[in-house]
Amino acid sequence: METTAVPRKVEHQQTDRGYVPVYATGVVEQPWASYTRTDHAVWDTLFERQCEMLPGRACQEFLDGVAKFGLGDGGIPKFADLNQVLGRTTGWELVAVEGLLPDEVFFDHLANRRFPVSWWIRKPEQLDYLSEPDLFHDLFGHVPLLLNPVFADYMQAYGRGGMKAFAIGPEALMNLTRLYWYTVEFGLIATGEGMRIYGAGIVSSKGESIYSLDADAPNRIGFDLERVMNTRYRIDTYQQTYFVIESFEQLFEATTPDFTPIYARLRERTAHAAADVLATDRVYHRGSREGFATNADT
Ligand code: PHE
Ligand code: FE
Repeated sequence: METTAVPRKVEHQQTDRGYVPVYATGVVEQPWASYTRTDHAVWDTLFERQCEMLPGRACQEFLDGVAKFGLGDGGIPKFADLNQVLGRTTGWELVAVEGLLPDEVFFDHLANRRFPVSWWIRKPEQLDYLSEPDLFHDLFGHVPLLLNPVFADYMQAYGRGGMKAFAIGPEALMNLTRLYWYTVEFGLIATGEGMRIYGAGIVSSKGESIYSLDADAPNRIGFDLERVMNTRYRIDTYQQTYFVIESFEQLFEATTPDFTPIYARLRERTAHAAADVLATDRVYHRGSREGFATNADT
């Protein structure tokens, strides 16, 4: 398997989890031996809870990924073990990080088929809500689909596109971030068996796994690239709109063209609110908006 270039050590940094070396790449060793019995129990609880609910809700590609990794063997998985499977299937590699990375560092990892995973796991009193991504979100939410060849290629293309958007400027970056949000994090997929979840933010949340599919309040709207890139989103509540793809191939193909002219076009337009339904939308479900927060979205 290909190895990560030796990370350049930048400095030591005080974090919630102690004094740790931080590298330019943000990569650390997964400190597997330091997980407590409570940490492992939190993983097992969250894992069992999601696995009970997800058949018939998560897309088959996601469920297949979970099974192939053996994520439910009990206790927090070792990234090195998962990397064996990933490396020979799609050539991706997990790297452990402390948490969110600077945009350009994150993009560089994805562009090189490395997926950064926060190594630490939430506390037992945080099972249902966390304001920053932890191991359960990053690993359970994102990694199973990295075994799907088309999705794996999409993630790499996104990383490359990210470097480009970063060079173009903050507006372009915002448009691209919206695409990530409404696909990788909160995407739904319409299958022959019905509507399914593929977004990591949904699949790692018990509440939103139910809400995104069953609730009357949110809109479910057919994926349209420019529409998505021009739509604000919420970071503090369940989504007000979910965008629905028909296949990962559709998503990959729609995002293949050069975005440069799209970024230029979108600069001239105002973004849609998260809850908006447009006349041009292909509407799977028009939300009742019940309980929607009315303060501004991102
Ligand atoms: N095609 C996009 C561009 O030219 C890159 C990209 C691919 C972005 C896939 C997101 C997802 O910028
Ligand atoms: Fe995420």
